[in-house]
Amino acid sequence: MLKITALSGSLRKRSYNTALARAALAELPGGFQGELLTIAGIPVYNGDLESMEGLPTAVTALKQTLAASSGLLLATPEYNNSMPGPLKNAIDWLSRPSSDTGKVLDGLPVGLLGATPGRGGTRLSQAAWLQVLRALGMRPFFGKRLEVSGAGDLFDDDLKLTDEETRKRVGAFVTAFAAFVKESARRTG
Ligand code: FNR
Repeated sequence: MLKITALSGSLRKRSYNTALARAALAELPGGFQGELLTIAGIPVYNGDLESMEGLPTAVTALKQTLAASSGLLLATPEYNNSMPGPLKNAIDWLSRPSSDTGKVLDGLPVGLLGATPGRGGTRLSQAAWLQVLRALGMRPFFGKRLEVSGAGDLFDDDLKLTDEETRKRVGAFVTAFAAFVKESARRTG
């Protein structure tokens, strides 16, 4: 059984990105288990805090989960045509200490996805993430894109994805990402 975790980049209770991440995990094929992770409880990065107290508990917990994962789905909102600060902050913490990145982020297959009520589908945010993924030595999935626009019309009151065309796109994306993860796991043993 391969584990795929999804990290939502929004803290909002009624977040479309959390809803999209949940919908994505629901489409995982057999042989995979999914877990939805949150960035809640992660303080703003401060090198003095790290020196004095080490990593925050929420960061350590996320690192442990990621170290046991074969793939990461990064559900990113778009803020001002780029990635949102809170999610970048979480990834920055997860990259600490740099001696640990080999166990946590380095080489980890990662699929970008995002939802916005606007029209751009988080395309610019997803593009901005690429240089971060490269800096961390992660393994981005380029096989398909999942850029969801007009999110306000696609989910019901319980934030369940009800738009069938979008659900199909999510399914195709997740199926292809899962195959990529399996192939990466086979290559790395
Ligand atoms: C936004 N939003 C936004 N949307 C977009 O498509 N492109 C953008 O550049 C921005 N910029 C932006 C800046 C800031 C500061 C905020 C707060 C919001 C709208 C954004 O997509 C919307 O709030 C989403 O609902 C955020 O994702 P969640 O919280 O629903 O997951």
